[in-house]
Amino acid sequence: MSGSAVRGAGPTSLQRIAVLGGTGFVGRTVCEHLTRRSPAGAIVVPTRHAMHANAVRPLPTVEVRVADVHDDAALRGALAGCDAVINLVAILHGSAEAFRQVHVGLPQRLAAACAGLGIRRVLHVSALGVGDNASSNYLRSKTAGEAVLRSAALDLTLFRPSVIFGAQDQFLNLFARLQAFAPLMPLARGDAQFQPVWVEDVAEAIVRCLDTPATIGQTFECAGPEIVTLAELVRLAGRWSGRPRPILPLPAALGNLQALLMECLPGQPLMSRDNLASLRTPNIATGALPGLGSLGIAPAALGQVAPGYLGRSDGRTKLDALRAAARRS
Ligand SMILES: NC(=O)c1ccc[n+]([C@@H]2O[C@H](COP(=O)([O-])OP(=O)(O)OC[C@H]3O[C@@H](n4cnc5c(N)ncnc54)[C@H](OP(=O)(O)O)[C@@H]3O)[C@@H](O)[C@H]2O)c1
Repeated sequence: MSGSAVRGAGPTSLQRIAVLGGTGFVGRTVCEHLTRRSPAGAIVVPTRHAMHANAVRPLPTVEVRVADVHDDAALRGALAGCDAVINLVAILHGSAEAFRQVHVGLPQRLAAACAGLGIRRVLHVSALGVGDNASSNYLRSKTAGEAVLRSAALDLTLFRPSVIFGAQDQFLNLFARLQAFAPLMPLARGDAQFQPVWVEDVAEAIVRCLDTPATIGQTFECAGPEIVTLAELVRLAGRWSGRPRPILPLPAALGNLQALLMECLPGQPLMSRDNLASLRTPNIATGALPGLGSLGIAPAALGQVAPGYLGRSDGRTKLDALRAAARRS
């Protein structure tokens, strides 16, 4: 990890914070951390559907606004009077056009809205693996979204997380659910690398940066303490949920066919061809940019947290979780 410790955290004059994507997995935790600031200030959470905000509505100082952030007037209305914006809106599946609309179009319209409203402070969550040689539509559009915001006249801080785990995550829980009924786990690109990071650590990093003007202009890589492969993650999810299944490695071509079939099913695919393409890029910190340590955060390891929410059907795993809760593992 490079970059010296960032100093100067403390309450700022930023008191009305809009959290775009505040109803999502990461956004809900960001809102919780925002309520612990002192003074907490108002937290504005726009959502396309009121019921998506059920988890954040009870939080003190959260104001839910039903507004489609992809509509210019609605976006301006939601941001009016705000001092800062945290942008967590993203999609994992979709056409190249859908990725462009959400990951590039929204940052463009966000920059324009901020310019019109006099808002300078923006914190934007991107992803590890972005760059000129990004391997998927997801990563290429995330790369372009970062560039849009960097070229705008904003006080910008960027975050690039690896895969994020937490009680409501969509990957370890999914691997655990699949192993509850599938006799084996067919898996392409099992050697893809990740550095899983806890949702609480990502949320804490965002809120610390909000209150640390020295982080303006910086990009933080948000990664956990260990590098694991996709196959290891599937194995751990199986073990910790009490239903370990053998993994059947699939060659890339068969993996693509599997993903194509999943895309044809109704609803969100478990895995798309674009997700597989993302796996060609290691999802690990480069070390060329500051990480969580530079914000004074010692990131939690997967084994300290995930066994506690994945099921625990054997005594050893329960014990592991208890040790982890006591920070003794
Ligand atoms: N989760 C991870 O493992 C991970 C890893 C690396 C990076 N990230 C990044 O972290 C950020 C937060 O991710 P997350 O996992 O919290 O996402 P999420 O749970 O899928 O939440 C997405 C949010 O975006 C909002 N949204 C607005 N327009 C949308 C649209 N057209 N389609 C779908 N959602 C839309 C949704 O709000 P409403 O439905 O209420 O409008 C929702 O609150 C994203 O930038 C993501 O790329 C996540």
